[in-house]
Amino acid sequence: MHKPWYSFLYIKSPIVKIALGILAVLIAVVVLLFQGALEEKRMAAQTANWDGRSIEKGADLFANNCATCHGFNGEGGAGPALNSKYFFTQRLADVNFTGTLEDYIKLTVSAGRPSKPNSQWSVMMPTWSSRYGGPLRDDQVQQLTDYVMNWESTALQQTPEEDPWIPFKDAPSKATGEAAAPAAETPAATGPREPQVIFTELGCAGCHNLTEPQTDSNRGPVGPNMGNLYENAPNRVPGEDASTYVHNSIRDPNAFVVPGYQPNLMPAGLADRMTPEELDALVAWLLDPNRTQ
Ligand code: HEC
Ligand code: HEC
Repeated sequence: MHKPWYSFLYIKSPIVKIALGILAVLIAVVVLLFQGALEEKRMAAQTANWDGRSIEKGADLFANNCATCHGFNGEGGAGPALNSKYFFTQRLADVNFTGTLEDYIKLTVSAGRPSKPNSQWSVMMPTWSSRYGGPLRDDQVQQLTDYVMNWESTALQQTPEEDPWIPFKDAPSKATGEAAAPAAETPAATGPREPQVIFTELGCAGCHNLTEPQTDSNRGPVGPNMGNLYENAPNRVPGEDASTYVHNSIRDPNAFVVPGYQPNLMPAGLADRMTPEELDALVAWLLDPNRTQ
């Protein structure tokens, strides 16, 4: 009898069947592994594409919302330059910010700088995030951050003369990093620093408003307002008087997190950057209802 063309599929030997089975599984595994490797590349390409689009959207947002003060290419104007070597290399050290530059930008854009005392700028950095009553969503704040971060590679090429940065009053160095270093020596050389000075030097002022009271309807956007700290501090932690509580808040910010605020946001280790006398004076000053600014 004539065999059909597919008769080769009639395999009798169990050994051959098993061998073919194993071979089929191996082939499937190889195919999957190969696809997995391709997928990795595809996802990387997708991410790059996504980042690119985020930067594009950020560019539009920047032109519409930020360029009037920071310049169309981040060269500065009524507000500080952002497309600046100083900004990408030295700024965080000068303001004693312990997170990444990306966090610094995101935080500044989200909350603005409504509280800065004695700003040299005639305009204020507005609050942008809808979380704090501003007009932009989280993804838009991220796009703006991506856009500003995307200047890094070109900004790093700037010579000191090309860098459009104008020194801030509170961070006078332009290029070299000299401003950050002497901070540690200052107390020994000139005696204890005033609480007002510490409050600005250690960046407290970036997150805490000193004059606004902290109430349910008037909450500080980043950290609690301190206009009425003397009223709030005695009631925060049972068994801790106001002074103990404020000491502990600075030494160990996460020991008690004020409800409604993020843990881990206030930097730990700030207390190590002042002498015990300076810390005591800072606490007394923060709790003084008639505090002088
Ligand atoms: C009305 C003017 C104005 C507008 C509009 C404005 N800014 Fe600002 N911005 C400022 C000023 C002034 C400062 C500096 C505030 C200070 O610390 O005294 C600042 C600070 C910043 C900083 C921190 C700079 C540093 O070195 O500490 C970033 C980042 C920033 N702005 C980004 C933005 C972005 C992004 C937008 C648009 C969504 C924007 N700004 C819109 C005025 C403005
Ligand atoms: C990056 C932002 C940030 C900086 C910088 C910062 N804080 Fe805070 N601080 C917070 C946040 C957020 C909270 C609320 C969460 C918590 O209790 O840890 C807070 C809470 C506090 C409290 C408790 C306030 C209350 O109403 O109970 C005190 C006191 C305080 N900070 C003092 C300081 C001092 C002094 C400095 C500077 C040496 C400083 N902070 C720097 C963000 C900051």
